[in-house]
Amino acid sequence: MRETIKIAVLISGGGSNLRALIEACEASDFPAEIVCVISNRPDAKGLEHAKHANIPAHIVDHKDFSDRAAFDGALLDALQPYAPDLVCLAGFMRILTPLFIDAYAGRILNTHPSLLPKFGGEGMYGIHVHTAVIAAGEQQSGVTIHQVISDVDRGEIVMQRAVSVAPDDTPQSLAKRVLAEEHKAYPEAVRMMAEKMLNLDA
Ligand code: GRF
Repeated sequence: MRETIKIAVLISGGGSNLRALIEACEASDFPAEIVCVISNRPDAKGLEHAKHANIPAHIVDHKDFSDRAAFDGALLDALQPYAPDLVCLAGFMRILTPLFIDAYAGRILNTHPSLLPKFGGEGMYGIHVHTAVIAAGEQQSGVTIHQVISDVDRGEIVMQRAVSVAPDDTPQSLAKRVLAEEHKAYPEAVRMMAEKMLNLDA
């Protein structure tokens, strides 16, 4: 029986969540291995983490494609040889079309830096999320790991971890604490998905 699932990680930037997943996969009892990393940005710092961990990395630059469907097709072509069981979006800043989503239906995770469904959807990414949370006077925020469907940030929630919002929090200080929680939540969510997939295989 298979002991691990194969995951592909898609990044656009710093790749701190990729790094957290790489570290988690190093544990002998962690039921997943990262078989490839794809970045849509040639300058993504996260590519360094893949290189350091000897994980095959590819750049599929969205600027090279005329439209989203063409870009998604190129992503699918790059992933195909690795046949990942699960695709993890980790700081990946592109909206995927149904062409990609349908090819990996039920097998795409994303991390979002708020307690969805609050502060999700169009325009809610990065620092904008934390600015909105503070402006709304929320006492709590956190991270959501969710399945990716065509309706942005509306897929099934796999895991959430909350952080309290301090009265003197700035969007930056809140972002830092939420990101730290993401680094715990994402590996836990991947473990859950992997165990579910491996049990189904059994
Ligand atoms: C994180 O806040 C994540 O929620 C969002 O992208 C940010 C950066 O992620 N999707 P990373 O450091 O590139 O993993």
